[in-house]
Amino acid sequence: MKYWTSFACVALLAGTALGSAQAAGLTVGFSQIGSESGWRAAETTVTRQEAEKRGIDLKFSDAQQKQENQIKAVRSFIAQGVDAILIAPVVATGWDAVLSEAKEAEIPVVLLDRTVDSDKSLYFTAVTSDTVYEGKVAGDWLVKTVGDKPCNVVELQGTTGSSPAIDRKKGFDDAIKAHGNFKIVRSQTGDFTRAKGKEVMESFLKAENGGKNICALYAHNDDMAVGAIQAIKEAGLKPGKDILVVSIDAVPDIFKALAAGEANATVELTPNMAGPAFDALDAFLKGKKEPAKWIQTESKLFTQQDEPLKVYELKKGLGY
Ligand code: AHR
Repeated sequence: MKYWTSFACVALLAGTALGSAQAAGLTVGFSQIGSESGWRAAETTVTRQEAEKRGIDLKFSDAQQKQENQIKAVRSFIAQGVDAILIAPVVATGWDAVLSEAKEAEIPVVLLDRTVDSDKSLYFTAVTSDTVYEGKVAGDWLVKTVGDKPCNVVELQGTTGSSPAIDRKKGFDDAIKAHGNFKIVRSQTGDFTRAKGKEVMESFLKAENGGKNICALYAHNDDMAVGAIQAIKEAGLKPGKDILVVSIDAVPDIFKALAAGEANATVELTPNMAGPAFDALDAFLKGKKEPAKWIQTESKLFTQQDEPLKVYELKKGLGY
């Protein structure tokens, strides 16, 4: 708190680039994780669009799923003297040193879509959904849909060590724990990718009597669910009926699956994290007070009852 307050005063009084700038004309570095999912592709597209709209020069770096590449990119942004840095952190741990370097250089860092376990004083703000709540919404939907029947659940987790994988697991576990009829019988990472989601689901199906022992799949993102749906079909079962499918993101392809009756529910995650991030930076640079440490985005449940084909049409051109 003290750091950002004093930084604001220094920047404004000294008439540095930041002190006199507004969003237009800023140079912002963006360390993106990679392109593991449709949602990630959309976030990249939307971030570029939001930057362009505001006249921001966006320096983009694709880390190809590696934290070491993200750390290198952030150090390079610091060396270039950018005005601000956006990071979508692949995992939650290991950020203290590089965030301290950015703080030392007085460059505000905004975390996008995932959180870190570093002290909050090391970053400017974080724009994310409530990822524990997303898991809870998915779990509550399943509890309501299945009722009292016994239900063996298989879980496809996101990238190991990433904040959404940790939180979405917790939220779902919290939702089902008071209901003794639910049991997570298999849980493994599918790395948030379609290919891995399919591969891991194939192993779950084999291990669970060809899928006959499975009542529901909970996938931490839609891409893994879409891969798993393919595996379920290839195993001769009906996804959405023989095995219920609930996941997170609300990418266009899951709406096709919802419309076909092959998926049952998804929790929406907006790909527009950059808009609120740029607005917060803009307000700060105009001398307004610094933002809260967490700018929360909305999480909305969609099911087969929510006109999935209409939503597909609305979403399909949005960069997913
Ligand atoms: O951090 C957000 C998650 O990362 C999305 O839910 C997933 O699709 C992505 O890869």
